Amino acid sequence: MSEPKKLYIKTYGCQMNVYDSERMAETLGGKGYVETQSPDDADMILLNTCHIREKAAEKVYSELGRFKGLKAEKPDLKIGVAGCVAQAEGEEIMRRQPLVDLVVGPQSYHRLPEMEAKTRDGAKALDTDFPEEDKFEKLKNRPKAKRGPTAFLTVQEGCDKFCAFCVVPYTRGAEVSRPADRILSEARDLVERGVREITLLGQNVNAYHGAGSNGDMTLAGLIWELNKVDGLERIRFTTSHPNDMADDLIEAHGTCEKLMPYLHLPVQSGSDKILKRMNRSHTAESYLRLIERIRAARPDIMMSGDFIVGFPEETEEDFQATLDLVEEVKYGYAYSFKYSTRPGTPAAERPQVDPKAADDRLQRLQALITRHQREIQDSMVGRKVRVLFEKNGRLPGQMVGKSEYLHSVHVSDAEVEVGELRDVLITASGANSLAGALV
Ligand code: SAH
Ligand code: SF4
Ligand code: F3S
Repeated sequence: MSEPKKLYIKTYGCQMNVYDSERMAETLGGKGYVETQSPDDADMILLNTCHIREKAAEKVYSELGRFKGLKAEKPDLKIGVAGCVAQAEGEEIMRRQPLVDLVVGPQSYHRLPEMEAKTRDGAKALDTDFPEEDKFEKLKNRPKAKRGPTAFLTVQEGCDKFCAFCVVPYTRGAEVSRPADRILSEARDLVERGVREITLLGQNVNAYHGAGSNGDMTLAGLIWELNKVDGLERIRFTTSHPNDMADDLIEAHGTCEKLMPYLHLPVQSGSDKILKRMNRSHTAESYLRLIERIRAARPDIMMSGDFIVGFPEETEEDFQATLDLVEEVKYGYAYSFKYSTRPGTPAAERPQVDPKAADDRLQRLQALITRHQREIQDSMVGRKVRVLFEKNGRLPGQMVGKSEYLHSVHVSDAEVEVGELRDVLITASGANSLAGALV
């Protein structure tokens, strides 16, 4: 038998890309590829890219440039670009960087085997279609390898919201939900292979409305079905839009045992003027009332969010409203970004904020978020949390896992296996993690 060919995949962007990279590795596995952790011994390099901010896209081109030497040494090396930059720029990538052999969009990667064959014949391969066939169905027959205790599972893709700053509706296309039975069988398969926690993924995951046995199913309905899967211990989902937080989903946070008390619910800004210009179709007030209802259902829920500062026409007063909102919600985690102009989106045409002012606002927002994050993490000391152990720590005998609130927890001299769930008493709060002892 010949040596297996080696595949190196580098993943950028959101969890959806992490999921897609796994699927791409499995499809190419069917063509005899095994994954390698180093580009140097690869026969094929795939960059699974993100287009969300300008910097993310530029990184791809600088990374591609670095493969020049490698390709000169190994003319048989194939280089591919997948993901959202592939979708947004298509053929332009090959023009800008001729060493690229293959460009595949996020909806077409089930066609990778044929595309790979084409590149082996010396041709270039490009596919950025939104095909009729279901890529997930085409990917079904994958190897049953053992897995770690946590996994992502895509249930919904694309977005119809068209926030004025965002490329996702263009790169991922219209909102589509996968049928519930396929998701459930994928979940059962993951559990058989060792998975204990599943994070349901979608750009707008709470807009999920996949075909179920009695008509369309909501995300809450799907979560309740997953709750019945033996061996599955934890359910999470991301990312949600405030407008799609249905009553049954809020309620599930209070009543569904396996659903974790953590919710990523991006608001982007605390100013109604800016929210309107962002086309978010919710206000700061409606968002705050929503969180009140969620906290009434599940008082200890950990909130997380996303923010954009320096959106076109944002004034100091608008920014102050964002700080006020953050002060009121107190996020356990939050991600904040400086507005980045994305060509083709409506906001790109509007008067831009002075970059220095935007930098300054970003720093102030991040300082406030970090303070809350720290306070919430520190408040865990003395509490008992339940930890799903995911891996060995750096010190001998140390094990690391995640609490229900997604805090990293380290335990020394722990007599536990990866994949075990145990109660832990938190004894200390460090820079980015908690430490504790088994109880
Ligand atoms: N579907 C999710 C998030 C998509 S992108 C949602 O609706 O919330 C992840 C985050 O990137 C967004 O929440 C937003 O905060 C940020 N983002 C998106 N486009 C951006 C842009 N042009 N500039 C800066 N940040 C952006
Ligand atoms: Fe982008 Fe808005 Fe859709 Fe989120 S809801 S993916 S920010 S357009
Ligand atoms: Fe980036 Fe595409 Fe995800 S643009 S954030 S990889 S959907």
